[in-house]
Amino acid sequence: MTYPIRGKRLAVATATAAFSAVLALSPVLAQRQQQAPKGPWMDKSLPPDQRADMVVEQMTLDEKISLVHGAGSFQAAGAASNGGAGVIAGIPRLGLPPIQLADSAVGVRAAAERGRYATLLPSTIAEAATWDLKLAYEYGAVIGRELRDQQYNSTLGGGVCLMREPRNGRNFEYQGEDPILAGKMVAQLIKGLQDQKVIGDTKHYAFNDQETGRSIGNVKLDKRAMRETDLLAFEIAVTEGQPGMVMCSYNKVNGDWACENSYLLNDVLKKAWGFKGFVLSDWGGTHTTAKAALAGLDNEEPGGDPARIHFGDALKKAVESGEVPMARLNDMAHRIVRTEFASGIVDDPPLGRVVDPFKGAETAQTIAEQASVLLKNANNQLPLNAALVKSIALIGSHADASVLSGGGSAQVDPPGGGASRYGGPAVWFPSSPLKAIRAKAPKAKVEYNEGTDTAAAVALAKASQIAIVFVNEPTSEGQDMRSLTLTNKQDDLVSAVAAANPHTIVVLETGGPAAMPWIGSVGAAIEIWYPGIKGAEALANILFGDVNPSGKLPATFAKADADLPHLTIFGMRPPAAPGAAAPAGGRGAPAGFDVDYTEGLKVGYKWFDAENKEPLFPFGHGLSYTTFAYSGLKAGLDSVSFTVRNTGKRAGAEIAQVYAGLPTAAQEPPKRLVAWEKIQLAAGESKTVTLKLDPKFLSIFNEQKDGWEFLPGEYKLFVGGSSRSTPLTATATH
Ligand code: BGC
Repeated sequence: MTYPIRGKRLAVATATAAFSAVLALSPVLAQRQQQAPKGPWMDKSLPPDQRADMVVEQMTLDEKISLVHGAGSFQAAGAASNGGAGVIAGIPRLGLPPIQLADSAVGVRAAAERGRYATLLPSTIAEAATWDLKLAYEYGAVIGRELRDQQYNSTLGGGVCLMREPRNGRNFEYQGEDPILAGKMVAQLIKGLQDQKVIGDTKHYAFNDQETGRSIGNVKLDKRAMRETDLLAFEIAVTEGQPGMVMCSYNKVNGDWACENSYLLNDVLKKAWGFKGFVLSDWGGTHTTAKAALAGLDNEEPGGDPARIHFGDALKKAVESGEVPMARLNDMAHRIVRTEFASGIVDDPPLGRVVDPFKGAETAQTIAEQASVLLKNANNQLPLNAALVKSIALIGSHADASVLSGGGSAQVDPPGGGASRYGGPAVWFPSSPLKAIRAKAPKAKVEYNEGTDTAAAVALAKASQIAIVFVNEPTSEGQDMRSLTLTNKQDDLVSAVAAANPHTIVVLETGGPAAMPWIGSVGAAIEIWYPGIKGAEALANILFGDVNPSGKLPATFAKADADLPHLTIFGMRPPAAPGAAAPAGGRGAPAGFDVDYTEGLKVGYKWFDAENKEPLFPFGHGLSYTTFAYSGLKAGLDSVSFTVRNTGKRAGAEIAQVYAGLPTAAQEPPKRLVAWEKIQLAAGESKTVTLKLDPKFLSIFNEQKDGWEFLPGEYKLFVGGSSRSTPLTATATH
């Protein structure tokens, strides 16, 4: 078993240098400093819409057109770019700065490459596993702050495509399978980010739930299923998070490209949800001029030469001929400019500063600690007692030096550089489990084996009191996993080690769910996701009990692919024979295929519940080093109250979950998450909590009435520590 470790070598060597990173000042700053803001729209006390109206009135046709497309990618835009994935030109005579768009799903991308530093946070699926709205806000705040430090005024992040497909290569940059959890968490992330005065984003709107053939696939789903699943996550993101931008996705939805889908953009996003910001296309996701503009697309990215793009000269002609009314172009420009005013980037532009790596690392570690999910802990194998442990074998996944990160446009550079591009080798970050564990148990013999030679790994495991096997699954934008089965024969390694040592603990570094055929033979298992720049330190704190784990799964872990709604990913071809031509399916490929989500409403645990399938680990599952008891449920449909008691010997936090089962007439899956609360409890302590229920979360989407409907009838309420462990139940009538 070999692992590409390009990032790791460079990163470890240069970590120290990067921690005193110098900010490379861009030409943009100088340019902006010369801009003398003019006009009454510079009055900060006026509402953003009024300011935008005043500016748009002053604009020439060419200026309006210049706003509705990007100036090209980093390379193409040249000096106008601050180094991000795109830039929308400013209009200096009107005091409007360029919008510098930077990929920053889990930290600011390509920082080291530009001579800067950025914090790698745990992936957003990990942030979702905290179920902690305050931490989601902090997550966004780190990104917002570091964007500004690097003189960007806009993110490209806030991913919330629902995990319909656990093998989707981008699940690590999304928020799991439940629309309410995902929507609430990403809304806080967006708020935290925008409070730093940068423009926030949510993406990829909508149903870009797999990477395979993402620019040719046509998602099929009825309106009710759309509105109650992925679109509900976006609805919460947009209405609660109020992002300045929504990025439309590459795929088609019911026959129309997402970036020219009038139902998605005009009817739902803008009319039903009242979105006031602007819609920008995913990179290269614009297909037409008039159709896209009339369907609600406001900005083509990455744009480039106006003569060659859809929203350049072609749009100007369409406006001049009346095919696209001037009023629509004004609306597009208005949305962009009002977003600039509302976000604060005009009044308080980012001036650039050295990134504080320690501040970012602290938040990254806290989130990693709260995000780790203790999946199994037979006979309380964990936490380890440093005073009693004599020897530990660490096996696999570069656990001597580093932790894994996710790839694609969410890839953050390791300190000093070395991040690979799309499809390149996985990138490892300098956070060493070996060092962190040695620091916790200085008297123990802690040794590492890379896991490439099973016999050697087994020998070390046999000679050690405890064996910790690290397994990993690198994932990235642009490609999906073929299967939930871990690659590189890692299952064999775990089984062999577990057979040699009864105290085997498995640590998983994955972007989402993985199958674990060996789970019955290991003592403990803990999912740490891609845990970020302080991942190893966070893990060591959990292994030795300095932190009591409280993370809960934001997605169902299935036993095997056969239990999923679809056995294989739509459009995925069998592995190519050696020497065969690459399969079609890249961006802009001509042929298409349907992505027919026949499971409809039954996403994630709703599928497993409705189909009576036993998951490996259910949605909401996660153990603690203490135990909790639930009692005293008082359930209504406005609110529920109940008591949780810590029945163990140490302090801990329980994420208590409330699920609702709708009346039979609703024809819904058996239950849905409607509320939750993370409750901190000292040993022996009890707390009674009252959680409000949002009527929308108890409703169904009525396609005929084109609205939400809270049906009359009997509702079931379930309360407990996971979707499959709900000791309290009650009914309530509406
Ligand atoms: C990705 C987006 C990203 C954009 C710019 C696209 O390929 O899908 O998420 O923001 O590139 O890098």
